Amino acid sequence: MPASGTKVAKGNAAKPLTQLKAWKALKAQYKKVGAMHLRDLFAADPKRGKEMTVEAEGLFFDYSKNRVTDKTIELLIELAQESGLQSRIEAMFRGDKINVTEGRAVLHVALRAPKGARILVDGQNVVPEVHAVLDRMAAFCNRVRSGEWRGHTGKRIRNVINIGIGGSDLGPVMAYEALKHYSDRNLTFRFVSNVDDTDFAEAVHGLDPAETLFIVSSKTFTTLETITNAQSARAWLVKGFGGDEKAVAKHFVAVSTNADGVGKFGIDTANMFGFWDWVGGRYSMDSAIGLATMLAIGPENFRAMLDGFYQMDEHFRTAPFERNLPVLLGLMGLWNTDFLGAQTVAVLPYEQYLKRFPAYLQQLTMESNGKHVTIAGAEVDYETGPIYWGEPGTNGQHSFYQLIHQGTRLIPCDFIAFGHSLNPIGRHHDMLLANVFAQSEALAFGKTKKQVKAEGTPEWLAPHRVFEGNRPSNTILAERLTPEVLGKLVALYEHSVFTQGTIWQINSFDQWGVELGKVLAQRIIPELESKEEPKLKHDSSTNNLIRRYRKLKRGK
Ligand code: F6P
Repeated sequence: MPASGTKVAKGNAAKPLTQLKAWKALKAQYKKVGAMHLRDLFAADPKRGKEMTVEAEGLFFDYSKNRVTDKTIELLIELAQESGLQSRIEAMFRGDKINVTEGRAVLHVALRAPKGARILVDGQNVVPEVHAVLDRMAAFCNRVRSGEWRGHTGKRIRNVINIGIGGSDLGPVMAYEALKHYSDRNLTFRFVSNVDDTDFAEAVHGLDPAETLFIVSSKTFTTLETITNAQSARAWLVKGFGGDEKAVAKHFVAVSTNADGVGKFGIDTANMFGFWDWVGGRYSMDSAIGLATMLAIGPENFRAMLDGFYQMDEHFRTAPFERNLPVLLGLMGLWNTDFLGAQTVAVLPYEQYLKRFPAYLQQLTMESNGKHVTIAGAEVDYETGPIYWGEPGTNGQHSFYQLIHQGTRLIPCDFIAFGHSLNPIGRHHDMLLANVFAQSEALAFGKTKKQVKAEGTPEWLAPHRVFEGNRPSNTILAERLTPEVLGKLVALYEHSVFTQGTIWQINSFDQWGVELGKVLAQRIIPELESKEEPKLKHDSSTNNLIRRYRKLKRGK
């Protein structure tokens, strides 16, 4: 781990992406290989399926079913080099303020750095602080899990409710679901994110306040949804204790960077777990935001997860690009997006515990790379972040896969599967894995008209039964889903987002696009709540909708 300075890395004065030598060469390459079929690429090289793979840190990555040749890979790697990826990686790990629009370092990698590491932000080594918070989290989790921490009336905590949204929710929910197998089943975990009252009502349904602990998770502690839900939680709890405000102390803890806000809300800052402005919300599941995760799986498993992150960080920082998993994953996505014109990526885990992984990746990828100007402020003239979505297999196969196989759009897929089930039952796992391999095979190779006709299909039906194939996919395989492997998997995607953002010359670490809606909502709230008919100054549609809602509310 390199020691650091705290340079502010202003927009690189790099050449525009489309002027780079490797980009131009890739455009020319696309003309040659873009139309080639995966059937031909595989036929031309029997070793392709073995050679276009990388194994690192226990993850096996097969990218052979992408529409690329060795030359394409070589050029993509040149593009990464020409884009200064290595020096950007070093700048991130060193703690340079690469998030220039917010003037911040980007140091989620410090959250999983080992105790002895040194990473400086504004001249201060942040690693000891990280470990101090981890130790406090561990002590707290041990107290709750052992029953030493009791509720206001002395009852043991049985229910934990995380209140947060975006990065303060998606990471904790995803990790809880992913690692449920390792969790303490005597504790019930629920997650409230939406300001929709139903989300809160359902989360507390049937629970005894005397056995319930709320974790209010918010980096800023100003987010409308979270603060509103936290206030409702407080009211629900106090009511449950017959109006006794003192109960709050034993039933609320906070995770935030904003100690003032936490104090003002009424949570003792002794029960607050901090993190830092250099941790982006969508990169925070391994900070104190992971308190619910640690409560569920215990400190030891949480540390194993951090170790998994760290191993992938080190791999990303040190491995040559041609054997670097996050770099290759990022480059495949970039090729599919910018050269093949794909608009989306389907993430398809063949592991039920990863059911929230696609939702988690949506924020990680789309909030990071959903940008239309470069760091220097220039409009891009190429596509940036694609749309991420997905569902676990095999369920997706009986739903949307039809469009992936035979629709008019090109949808690259990331398949994720494991060598072992965590709950082996008879032949289930072989069947599951047979499906994942069958899907990527069918997508790549399809079924020709000749094959269809040879099966005796009548001429009129044949076009419906032809599979064009040539649909690209990646397959990621690991031994089994453990906390450590989850850490590696998340870090793999984090760094592939970084790889792409660097080449696209965008800032993957701000999210100004979500601000306008927030500001407008604040303006509209009083217009919905005022007793008098408000003077509306929106466009005619918004005015009309507001009036219609006010009428609905009044029951007229
Ligand atoms: O609105 C987007 C966002 O700022 C995310 O980036 C963040 O993860 C989420 O809101 C929640 O923010 P906070 O943790 O400050 O409540």
